[in-house]
Amino acid sequence: MMKEAETLQQFGKTQVIWRGRKLAYFAGCDYFRLARHPAVNQAAAQACRTVGLSVSASRRTTGNHVLYQTLERELAKFFRAPAALLLPTGYLGDLAVGQALAGQFTHALMDARSHGSLATAARFLNCPLLSFPHRHPSGLAQVIQSCGRESRVIVLTDGMFSHDGSVAPLQEYLAVLPANGMLLVDDAHGAGVLGKTGKGTLEHAGVDRQRIIQTITLSKAVGAYGGTVLASRELRDRIVATSNSFAGVTPMPLPLAAAALKSLELLGANPEWRAQLFANADGLKSALRAGGVPLPDAPGPIIPLPECTPAQAQALHRALLAAEIYPSFIQYPGGPANGYFRFVISSAHTRAQLNALAEVLVKSVPRWKS
Ligand SMILES: Cc1ncc(COP(=O)(O)O)c(C=O)c1O
Repeated sequence: MMKEAETLQQFGKTQVIWRGRKLAYFAGCDYFRLARHPAVNQAAAQACRTVGLSVSASRRTTGNHVLYQTLERELAKFFRAPAALLLPTGYLGDLAVGQALAGQFTHALMDARSHGSLATAARFLNCPLLSFPHRHPSGLAQVIQSCGRESRVIVLTDGMFSHDGSVAPLQEYLAVLPANGMLLVDDAHGAGVLGKTGKGTLEHAGVDRQRIIQTITLSKAVGAYGGTVLASRELRDRIVATSNSFAGVTPMPLPLAAAALKSLELLGANPEWRAQLFANADGLKSALRAGGVPLPDAPGPIIPLPECTPAQAQALHRALLAAEIYPSFIQYPGGPANGYFRFVISSAHTRAQLNALAEVLVKSVPRWKS
């Protein structure tokens, strides 16, 4: 059974305190460190003073605050979506879509490495669930064919996969998807990060929103909290009308809605942060590859190390600590069953921190091959 993880205390933008030690932190998915941006924190504090913490009611009853509507309008604008609907978490966003679309499809087809929220959402669709090989358009095409001519399928996939930073080939999926099919893209990690203007995996893949529902979280690139469904106005209305994940919950705390609004404004006004994020990630990946560390060919700011033996893991753990880097060894769905080292890069990491990480990994990981 997986144990509860140890506590960590964030310190500044790129460090944590762990067992009394201050260490460089390459984990968590606050890609732009907006959770600690003074203007974002200030927006939350001010909302706390003026409108309080919680509406303490469902938005279907008396909890529909104007801040939620403003945030939805800004999210739709930022992501160029016809409509946006807030849910208390990204996980619930997927469930809300599943509940609203129950009975509309003959088959749900899910990437074998999809996030757990999609697997849970699929249960609400009330149709058989089949899986297709990870990021594999021809594998998907085969599964679609096996569903028969009379089928109507919905394809479920992450946008950017958090175990290794790889990205779903959306263009290729759309090419094999029948005209009456839909694609549900959980873009928790791609949103705000991928694409020229940060609209996520759809923008990265160069596809429009036709036949695609994009769900995102506000807890990663946006640095706040909450989930959002970006879809047609019709689906938005349908979720409001039929989904218990919307009707039966208290919406996100108001200060977090205010924080997310400020973050969106900052993300829109500072495209150089995205450039910095990729400069940091790409620079580190180049140094690692040059030093013999094998990495997947994936565009995301996530660095997964290959599986290693317990002795190798212990040695790297010690080496990272000696360099004052938090040893982020995780057991994560989609990653190796016994755990692996995964490093997540942010726009705020310094050159010195990135160099220090590269130095430790280049000294240790190439030897794992033998
Ligand atoms: C791919 C993916 N989808 C959904 C979620 C859930 O988002 P939230 O934490 O906002 O519920 C996460 C992680 O948190 C995620 O990594």
